[in-house]
Amino acid sequence: MKNIQIGIIGGTGGIGRWFANFFKKEGYTVHVSGRRTGMDMDEMAERCRVVIVSVPIGATVQVIKQLGPGMKKESLFMDLTSLKTEPVTAMLKSSISEVIGLHPLFGPNIRSMSGKNVAVCPVRTEKWFPWLTEILKRRGANLIETTPEGHDEAMAIVQGLTHLNTITMGLVLGNAGKGLSELKDFSTPIFDEKINIIKKVFAGNPGLYAEIIAFNPHIHKILDLYSKNLSELKSLIDRTDTKGLTELMENRFRNF
Ligand SMILES: NC(=O)c1ccc[n+]([C@@H]2O[C@H](COP(=O)([O-])OP(=O)(O)OC[C@H]3O[C@@H](n4cnc5c(N)ncnc54)[C@H](OP(=O)(O)O)[C@@H]3O)[C@@H](O)[C@H]2O)c1
Repeated sequence: MKNIQIGIIGGTGGIGRWFANFFKKEGYTVHVSGRRTGMDMDEMAERCRVVIVSVPIGATVQVIKQLGPGMKKESLFMDLTSLKTEPVTAMLKSSISEVIGLHPLFGPNIRSMSGKNVAVCPVRTEKWFPWLTEILKRRGANLIETTPEGHDEAMAIVQGLTHLNTITMGLVLGNAGKGLSELKDFSTPIFDEKINIIKKVFAGNPGLYAEIIAFNPHIHKILDLYSKNLSELKSLIDRTDTKGLTELMENRFRNF
């Protein structure tokens, strides 16, 4: 197997580059491409037995549709997208190859995948699934086998709700009338922790977070719950109903 070539569209940056280095360390020849550089898609589909799509969520389906018809039956078509239903459906429809959806639940800033969760959707695969799982498990990943729909539903909470919350706090901070320098001397450890997360989201790759939230097919349910709970909270606080607010938290905690 070590003589196969691996191609990563989007391997010039972010998590795609991380996986390019990962597979190189495993001894494979890896070709990467971006919008303007690297091997073109037709050549990649022709030469590489494993082709991985790792481009921004909004560009993913278009890239898959372009690649798919050139993919061979004996090849593996895989993506690293943070959402799974649309990309996996597009890979199944546009190609005749084996298809696995993968979502590494970590960013490109980590050194090793040891102990990290990786969601995997083995939707049309025979020989490539054992190949992939052997490598990921050997490198210490905690593999979670799931369906694309089940993955996206969970991600509406794990990533959608989390980032929604961070973005809401950042937006409020941006128009609360006091800058961070003014608040510096009043900060608490929890405030500092939250500010670091907000900075990571707002100053890092805001487009990624926007897409993770807005393209999730289950986000509207979470968004409705978010608004409903915020209204409930507001009405309790407006009435200074601390007992009601405490009971609400205690009751809801039992459902966690
Ligand atoms: N970053 C994370 O923490 C993380 C974690 C798990 C999964 N993901 C998923 O991984 C994917 C990539 O995210 P990322 O954060 O790694 O993005 P990124 O840092 O912005 O990198 C995107 C890569 O895609 C290439 N690219 C952009 N548009 C393209 C297009 N239309 N055609 C071909 N290549 C294109 C870019 O190459 P050029 O700039 O050279 O054109 C670059 O190599 C997304 O689907 C995301 O949901 C990200």
